[in-house]
Amino acid sequence: MAKQKTTVGTINNETLAFTAGRDVELDHALITVDCVGTAAHVTMLSKMPVEPALITAEEREQVIAGLVEIIALARDDKFKIKLADQDVHLAVERTLTKKLGDLGKKIHTCRSRNDQVAVDLRLYAKEQLLFTLEEAAALVAALVGFGKKHEKVPMVGRTHMQPGMPSSVGLWATAHAESLLDDCVALVNAYELNDQCPLGSAASYGVPLPIDRQLTSDLLGFGRPTHNVLYANNGRGKMEGIVLSAMSQVMLSLSRLAQDFMLFTMPEFDYFKLPAEFCTGSSIMPQKQNPDVCELVRAKASRVKAAELGVYDLVKGAPTGYNRDLQEAKELFMEGIATTRSCLRILAPMIKETKVNKKALIDGFTPDVFATDRALELVGEGMPFRDAYHYVKENLHELESIDPSEAILLKTHLGAPLGLDWDYFKGRTNAVKETVREERKAFHRAVSKLLGVKYPAE
Ligand code: ARG
Repeated sequence: MAKQKTTVGTINNETLAFTAGRDVELDHALITVDCVGTAAHVTMLSKMPVEPALITAEEREQVIAGLVEIIALARDDKFKIKLADQDVHLAVERTLTKKLGDLGKKIHTCRSRNDQVAVDLRLYAKEQLLFTLEEAAALVAALVGFGKKHEKVPMVGRTHMQPGMPSSVGLWATAHAESLLDDCVALVNAYELNDQCPLGSAASYGVPLPIDRQLTSDLLGFGRPTHNVLYANNGRGKMEGIVLSAMSQVMLSLSRLAQDFMLFTMPEFDYFKLPAEFCTGSSIMPQKQNPDVCELVRAKASRVKAAELGVYDLVKGAPTGYNRDLQEAKELFMEGIATTRSCLRILAPMIKETKVNKKALIDGFTPDVFATDRALELVGEGMPFRDAYHYVKENLHELESIDPSEAILLKTHLGAPLGLDWDYFKGRTNAVKETVREERKAFHRAVSKLLGVKYPAE
């Protein structure tokens, strides 16, 4: 049977392909962060208080230069991970060894691929969470802008999908915005838990040399190192699950928003009109303008949840310490994040261009929608609420068509159609943007200092 020589032993070809799995493709997304992680590790090794030095300051410079070259190649999509490499980690080591000889063989001192991939995924998650927060804030801004623009446009408020009480387009749009703002809190929580450096935990049990895990963590701009080295490895999978659970909350919000759009753009409602360029046609029915974007957002919410559950299932029975099963979480993790981000990005411009049909919204009102308002009016005249309730229920025919635009003007308390605090939405949105700006700046500063070149390169 054909065999292949690899950096870590000779492996049967089939076994190599089977065990490397999709890593050979997926790890392309980790090349840069892998190099960044190695830069921090090698820098820490070069500062270790041992004689002779594991890596000298000069050697460190050479390694960093090699890593910077690889990062540039990756940016142009020119760094190749081969099947014989198995993954990005050994591809980088092979490349550095080819360039630097024996020095390349030293970079893996006091490290395992287990803590290496764990740190790669955390660095990857850090950047992806910041992008996600940025895109979520943009969608919130689009929804709030839509709500503000149509603040006083009446809309039948429904429960059980049946007409309930007078409401407004502003209330509807900002309900979805506020949901997403809460999801941003979940994303930030995930960000904070992710912000711990597992490097130095090695295979799962640390190393018998005085490595400085705090230094590595600081060099990478992490908030702190994970403490227990075994947990650093057990935390892989768990961390992906936490991130995906925040992503799936985002998708829950998006799916419901998408569902509302599908309902309210049906010709029978005709409340909203999606921009034609965000709809797709039919190959047979010439008149069609289908809300495929919304349908796919709804479907993708299921996929992101499935990714979260998939990761959960992979780790829930995993024995302590590193297990190769964890490799299977990578695809679910990356796909779940990419899917969520693509949904956030497609909806923001769609909402900005969505038209509101005020006439259809007002025509949607029937007198019964004012039943509760009328009961409360009677309460104002001194009738006990339950009596007013029964009176209106028995005399629904007495309800006249009130002007819905007038009706919503009475709802001025906190969070009601005319009590929406636009500064509240702005404040929370700006806080998200500020977190992104600050965290990104600190991360870029740390990595630029570590590499001695601007990160990310322009
Ligand atoms: N590609 C592997 C993963 O994602 C890297 C770690 C391999 N470690 C090992 N002990 N075989 O988990």
